[in-house]
Amino acid sequence: MAPRDWERKDLLGLEGLSASEIETILDLAASFKTSPPANLLKNRTAAFLFTEASTRTRSSFEIAAKRLGCEVLSFSPISSSLSKGETLLDTFLNLQAVGVTHFIVRHERSGVLEDLAPLLSASVINAGDGAHEHPTQALLDLMTLRERWGGFKGKKIVVLGDIRHSRVARSNLFALKKLGARVVFCGPTPLCPDAFSELGATIEHDVEKALKGADAVNVLRLQLERMEQGFVPSMADYAFSYQLTAARADMMKPEAFVLHPGPLNRGVEIASEVADGPRSLILEQVSNGVIARMAVLSLCEQGRSLA
Ligand code: CP
Repeated sequence: MAPRDWERKDLLGLEGLSASEIETILDLAASFKTSPPANLLKNRTAAFLFTEASTRTRSSFEIAAKRLGCEVLSFSPISSSLSKGETLLDTFLNLQAVGVTHFIVRHERSGVLEDLAPLLSASVINAGDGAHEHPTQALLDLMTLRERWGGFKGKKIVVLGDIRHSRVARSNLFALKKLGARVVFCGPTPLCPDAFSELGATIEHDVEKALKGADAVNVLRLQLERMEQGFVPSMADYAFSYQLTAARADMMKPEAFVLHPGPLNRGVEIASEVADGPRSLILEQVSNGVIARMAVLSLCEQGRSLA
């Protein structure tokens, strides 16, 4: 049965979603895990427009679309007419005219989809825009934790690392807060500004204090591609002060989990023995990405057909 609490054709971020809408996505993903649907997107076509590199998001979206019976259009921005100066809107309109029903977009500019998506009848799904949002990453993170916990009320989740440049940190914060968790952002001041408390996170620059009593930590890499020089003295300094080592991970609750959206920079933000250790849910996150993205594609198709 189609979820009733869903009318959106696009998923651009989690900031504007209600708790109930987020739970609708997580519930649908959980039901897909036990009984996968087939052909919900038969006779539909998804196009991928990624101007930034991706391993996990792109591959799992492509598998998700194909599992739903959706045709997938291979589209490379570099070899497209975007490189001749065609606008993003004209690109979307032309691809829509040849039959694309779902755009899955990763772009380096924050908020680039907000004005474009309402101009299209096709669904637009944000696969990461600048340092703004990465909604499906946060959804798969929440899906993975909810499978272990059942819910989020009273849980303390630390997001550790380069918060300033992270769309994953923002999407996780928006969703986790709505579902009743306490979110602590931790990193050196230049990468974890105190002003981020205005978003609803607790800011803590001391990693040991942040991790004490936590139920989970989500570790972020240094996003050097979005960073000018001067945010950290050196990789070695950063690793010394903020790397999630086994000793630091043990400051959390004994049953606490470790997440990381990937890609990992082993030996910088996370020690290999933690990434590969018993607390780690990192590869479970990646597997759940396919299911969470199937749920998002299905719901956006429902919203598109209502529009
Ligand atoms: N987590 C994530 O977005 O990974 P990719 O950049 O490999 O897609």
